[in-house]
Amino acid sequence: MYSSSFFDEIVDRRGTSCVKHDLSNEVFGLPDVLPMWVADMDFRVAREISTAVKARAEHDIYGYAFQPQSFYQSAVDWVQRRHHWTIQPEWLSFSPGIVPALNICVQAYTDPADKVIIQTPVYPPFYSAIKDHGREIVDNPLVKRDSSYEIDFDHLEKIIDRQTKMLILCHPHNPVGRVWTRQELEQLAAICVRHRLIVVCDMVHSDLALDHQPCPSLAGISPEIDALTVSLIAPSKTFNVAGLGTSLIFTSNPVLKAKFKKVCDSLHVGSGNIFGTVALEAAYRHGDAWLNGLLEYINANFDILDEWTARAPYVQYIRSQGTYLAWLDFSPSGLSGNELYDTIIRKARVGLNKGLEFGTGSASFMRMNLGCPASIVRQAIRRIDESFSSFKFRVDVS
Ligand SMILES: Cc1ncc(COP(=O)(O)O)c(C=O)c1O
Repeated sequence: MYSSSFFDEIVDRRGTSCVKHDLSNEVFGLPDVLPMWVADMDFRVAREISTAVKARAEHDIYGYAFQPQSFYQSAVDWVQRRHHWTIQPEWLSFSPGIVPALNICVQAYTDPADKVIIQTPVYPPFYSAIKDHGREIVDNPLVKRDSSYEIDFDHLEKIIDRQTKMLILCHPHNPVGRVWTRQELEQLAAICVRHRLIVVCDMVHSDLALDHQPCPSLAGISPEIDALTVSLIAPSKTFNVAGLGTSLIFTSNPVLKAKFKKVCDSLHVGSGNIFGTVALEAAYRHGDAWLNGLLEYINANFDILDEWTARAPYVQYIRSQGTYLAWLDFSPSGLSGNELYDTIIRKARVGLNKGLEFGTGSASFMRMNLGCPASIVRQAIRRIDESFSSFKFRVDVS
């Protein structure tokens, strides 16, 4: 059992070469911000994982290794148990991370100067994975309708031409927190099948769908889209083991799998590391109780944010359906991007991600990471409230 008191614990991570806590000065120019930026959680890992990693460490020989069959089977069983997606062990391939997998996919499935579609605002490495390999980014911006971010299917149809070869889907979507519904995925699949677009479906946040809602798999929509889809999954966000560099891709299409392997082999990044291998299997076999406790805790952190955004006149947001990330819209404050940065980072000393990192239209947004004890969320809100209380912001209360 992992109750809320487990997740309440403040663990001092400073001095562990921790990006989130030890790089404040480099990232914000301040040594003492409350770090709520990079998607990394501040909770102790599940005991089931640390026990398995420690047992492996006890062996004292850390030579070359491979991922055994049980590693792949644990992932097959996990996605069946948690998501009801039926996949086969032979569809899976190891990747040293999801971002490496995105970069490998771009190289494996497109040629230089080909066009790749993303839907912004989106996780920054989606941009670099395309740009850094000489491919062209084509944007299908998400649209905000009523109280939801949605895919603009009409615009999507219009921007596809003969050079467009791939779409990278973020599902659930970082930063807006949408878990795409089956109906939305059906619409998307119909377009991608019609235009023979390969879809790389980044599902690193899929285990973090909140409120027990399902996270349907795009590949499961139809045999036609299945043949065009490569899905990316990992325990890295779910169990906060990103430092172990271990993730998976799966595709039922042997040609897509072989192309991925070819690039992976050419880079010699397919061997993984022994602790990541052990951790993935332990997480996927024994991590349910920890994850169930985590999801309840994250939901409660979102309740705190609901209460804050309902009363604070300078911020609004749409509650995430998946992920522990909140996409905060400070446009009611009337502050410019720079004024906002000054108010939140310099004055309040709360380290959030700037909206502009995710897309050009997001200057009034900031991303807050709720993967931390509730006391930290409350402290951040107090600090931000205080810094706004002395600021003559231009509130639009209409
Ligand atoms: C959508 C998305 N993909 C990938 C990653 C990073 O994955 P990895 O650490 O396995 O490269 C993140 C991290 O925040 C993410 O939000």
